[in-house]
Amino acid sequence: MTHLPKIELHLHLEGAAPPAFIRGLAKEKHVDISGIFDERGDYSYTDFWDFLRVYEAATSVLQTPEDYARLTAAVLAESAANDVIYCETFLSPDFCGGRDLGAWREYLHAIREAADRAEAQDGITLRGIVTPIRHFGPDKAREVALCAAETAGDWIVGFGIGGDEKAGKPKDFAWSFDMAREAGLRLTAHAGEWGGPESVRDALRDLRVERIGHGVRAIEDLALVDELAEAGVVLEVCPGSNIALGLYPDWRRHPIGQFHDRGVKVTVSTDDPPFFHTTMRNEYDRLSKAFDWDDGVFRAINATAAGAAFCDEATRARLQ
Ligand code: ADE
Ligand code: ZN
Repeated sequence: MTHLPKIELHLHLEGAAPPAFIRGLAKEKHVDISGIFDERGDYSYTDFWDFLRVYEAATSVLQTPEDYARLTAAVLAESAANDVIYCETFLSPDFCGGRDLGAWREYLHAIREAADRAEAQDGITLRGIVTPIRHFGPDKAREVALCAAETAGDWIVGFGIGGDEKAGKPKDFAWSFDMAREAGLRLTAHAGEWGGPESVRDALRDLRVERIGHGVRAIEDLALVDELAEAGVVLEVCPGSNIALGLYPDWRRHPIGQFHDRGVKVTVSTDDPPFFHTTMRNEYDRLSKAFDWDDGVFRAINATAAGAAFCDEATRARLQ
């Protein structure tokens, strides 16, 4: 099952940057980010909030559309080598041009061109989900939503929110999600990673999202789990991320098995693979060992992911 074709719905483009790639750019641009690596050269952080600091420091060396084009090429080559055939990536105008619409269009153009080359070479398809950063606040999120609305279409297909789930409440971002929905974008939100079940309920009610990024802490309220199953809400589960960040002690105690058994639609993604020493193959391999899942389970998970992908029907038809 490790080599099955895979669909990944939850990947942060900057978070997928290998440390050597970031070091190379830092050297070219004479930026000192030595403090974010350990002695082996891996990203080094102590907890989720320190991870966000390291993530933003690494991202600070990505300064031009060309940097993002190079990043996209590197990330998609690695994803294709892990049998990923379709991927949705979070992109943020906060990092790509500072929420300036003209600059954002240039970044997007460069990223799309790199993605098109990867598709021609390796047969991997990429689509973008525009993402404000929650701890940057609702005002910046509005500017991000405007960028998203202006570029919504066949390639920018979704709108989401990442960052510190403890910062503010989902309803603070309702205006931005309403604007994105009206522009035709499909919606997801990080919730139930660092916030409990209430955080998932709030995101569903106040942002009206159809997918939840992570959502794993819904497991602390079984009535909510049943509601998720009933409503067909799709969870973008990133087990290796949750374990690396200390949410669960090991793979066997990760709740993805319980969600699956209770009929919740689960999908599997890596989130920020080099930060968590994971890959899509590694996720499948660890899950198959922890839960004794066979090919059939992973095929069903990919069918769920294909059904929940935000791309148009013609693209989806190629995935099923
Ligand atoms: N941004 C990158 N990775 C993230 C995560 N796991 N949770 C929230 N925001 C993120
Ligand atoms: Zn994420």
